[in-house]
Amino acid sequence: MSRLKNDTLIRALLRQPTPYTPVWIMRQAGRYLPEYNRTRSRAGSFLDLCRNPDLATEVTLQPLSRFALDAAIVFSDILTIPDAMGLGLYFAEGEGPRFDRPLRDQDTIHRLPIPDPEEQLGYVLNAVRQIQRALAGKVPLIGFAGSPFTLACYMVEGGSSTDFHVLKAMLYARPDLVHHILDTNCRAVTGYLNAQINAGVDAVMIFDTWGGILSTPAFREFSLAYLERIIEGLSGGENGEPVPSIVFTKGGGQWLKDIAATGCDAVGVDWTTDIGAARALIGRDVALQGNLDPAVLFSSPDVIRKETQQVLSAFGPGGGHVFNLGHGISQFAPPEHVGVLVDAVHELSRPFH
Ligand code: CP3
Repeated sequence: MSRLKNDTLIRALLRQPTPYTPVWIMRQAGRYLPEYNRTRSRAGSFLDLCRNPDLATEVTLQPLSRFALDAAIVFSDILTIPDAMGLGLYFAEGEGPRFDRPLRDQDTIHRLPIPDPEEQLGYVLNAVRQIQRALAGKVPLIGFAGSPFTLACYMVEGGSSTDFHVLKAMLYARPDLVHHILDTNCRAVTGYLNAQINAGVDAVMIFDTWGGILSTPAFREFSLAYLERIIEGLSGGENGEPVPSIVFTKGGGQWLKDIAATGCDAVGVDWTTDIGAARALIGRDVALQGNLDPAVLFSSPDVIRKETQQVLSAFGPGGGHVFNLGHGISQFAPPEHVGVLVDAVHELSRPFH
């Protein structure tokens, strides 16, 4: 018997039967919720919110008290690792993340430390333990990290970008330096995810948000190879319970077979790929997570139901599907539309199980 009252997410990730398709939403705790914005202003800033386990617990639970979601995700950010490496993370209002000390030269890159998760990221692990106490087995808790490549994008660029050309220039001019960063990130992410597993998360997800900017050979060499090493290095949960892993490469639709071959339990699919075609390609090996276009939430309840039905029908009958958006929810999405979506997934998916 699972300690979870609702274990549909875990069962779907392991391709076991479920009575309906479980659903959660990337960035489900965020700025589209007025209560999130209130807690964030109480905290002072987004990073203060991440670093305060009481408040991180509070915002993690906010979407669950509004909607019948089948999972919680730890409230944190992928950039806590480079911050713990000493790059000096801050968020400039309206401009997204920035680093005081981006990685640009060989000496700094060679000195890049691997953080000790309990020492430097203890606030995240404390949040995990506190969230699990508050959840009391209601739904599973997902832990996460950025992929080594996606972290490197921000670390070298120094902030957000549409094409990450500083990183890409380094990748072609000095692949050795980029591999050094990726190897360091890979060790850091593996240790960090295992620390989250030890602290009690029920599943883990790796966000490879920028893998899709690479050419096919570059994706294999600079992102996939490291994803594979992380998956290989993940430990199981307490009492030998499996802790399923999800890998999401945004824009990775043409590499689904390679991603499934990393050994992960589930592959995230963005909205540009047909989830039925993805299932035909890799559905025997892994579960799939996705893939409603996040922009559908800007439409009406009728359209949201129709588009939800379309994704469920494209996946087809049987287990192994975790419903989600194809990327994070927009800060401008109307919260009541999320309720419409979650209820539609639960209701409309039953005939498929
Ligand atoms: O999903 C969840 O609810 C858990 C929390 C979570 C956040 N970031 C909170 C957050 C998760 C899983 C992330 C992952 C993350 N962070 C990714 C990968 C996923 C993706 O969306 O592709 C990336 C690339 C980041 C880096 C990051 N953090 C950026 C680029 C930004 C700014 C983007 C923006 O929308 O302005 C953030 C900030 C951030 N992380 C916010 C939240 C709720 C908004 C910050 C705020 O409240 O001001």
